[in-house]
Amino acid sequence: MTARACVIGWPVEHSRSPVIHGYWLKQYEIEGAYEKEAVRPEDLKSFLQQLWTHGYIGANVTLPHKEAALRAARSADEAAVTIGAANTLWLDPDGTLHASNTDAYGFMTNLDAEAPQWSEGLGAVLVLGAGGAARAVLYGLIKAGVPQILLANRTRARAETLAAAFGPRVQAVDWEARNEALGACGLLVNTTSLGMTGQPPLEIDLSAMPNSAVVADIVYVPLETPLLAAARARGLACVDGLGMLLYQAVPGFERWFGVRPEVTPDLKAHVKAHVMATLGDQ
Ligand SMILES: NC(=O)c1ccc[n+]([C@@H]2O[C@H](COP(=O)([O-])OP(=O)(O)OC[C@H]3O[C@@H](n4cnc5c(N)ncnc54)[C@H](OP(=O)(O)O)[C@@H]3O)[C@@H](O)[C@H]2O)c1
Repeated sequence: MTARACVIGWPVEHSRSPVIHGYWLKQYEIEGAYEKEAVRPEDLKSFLQQLWTHGYIGANVTLPHKEAALRAARSADEAAVTIGAANTLWLDPDGTLHASNTDAYGFMTNLDAEAPQWSEGLGAVLVLGAGGAARAVLYGLIKAGVPQILLANRTRARAETLAAAFGPRVQAVDWEARNEALGACGLLVNTTSLGMTGQPPLEIDLSAMPNSAVVADIVYVPLETPLLAAARARGLACVDGLGMLLYQAVPGFERWFGVRPEVTPDLKAHVKAHVMATLGDQ
């Protein structure tokens, strides 16, 4: 039987997941399918209860369903529970729905691949933003053993809530204090939507960062955000957001189709070309 998986969202048209999984299905000559399913929030629970009937062995979940998908699953891994959201689902042969969150895996695997030196003489990390993506990045950094994370968000109360949830290694700092905070940081991660096409750029002065520092932006449209351009101009190592998107897809593909796929320069070029071709859809 042809194995089928899908991405569930509302809307779902913008999702890049079919481009990634479609590439791998072809690459590994797997007789499988990966489709888009536009599901309204009020229909998510029943859609997931009928996932098998719809012909699927698993799914990715995108906005606005990530929290509800976690609630709908019978079991969830530690990452999904701690992050409070699921992006990858699969059915057991007995029909049990399992949930995982692979965003932290995606972020950390890409960071390790693109800037393997990131943790050497690190000091602190500054994370900007306190939304869903920030939760995944904090989880990944804490799991990797980072001793101190400074968290700055426009709405300080959200940073404080996240800091309280993740424990004493995470400290909220004022959004206005982000430039000074950088002096102690070997890694800066932007998880806000600033710098994304259609959004204002992130205003930040990188001059206090050590010369060995790494700057990561999880925004991937455009691939070279104004933040990364500024970091490159200062001679800092840069990590763009597309790799996180590609690596987060790896565990789901392996689970559904039985092959652990590789993130290669050719895949990156393929997805990048798709992003460029559909920039007007953002
Ligand atoms: N590369 C990947 O695989 C990947 C994965 C997930 C997400 N992303 C990207 O990450 C970004 C954030 O996603 P999310 O799901 O975390 O979104 P979210 O939950 O909506 O959070 C948005 C964050 O951006 C901040 N923000 C928005 N506008 C701002 C402004 N004008 N000034 C200062 N801060 C502002 C928000 O601050 P407030 O709390 O003050 O509103 C909040 O911290 C998006 O661009 C998304 O595409 C990339």
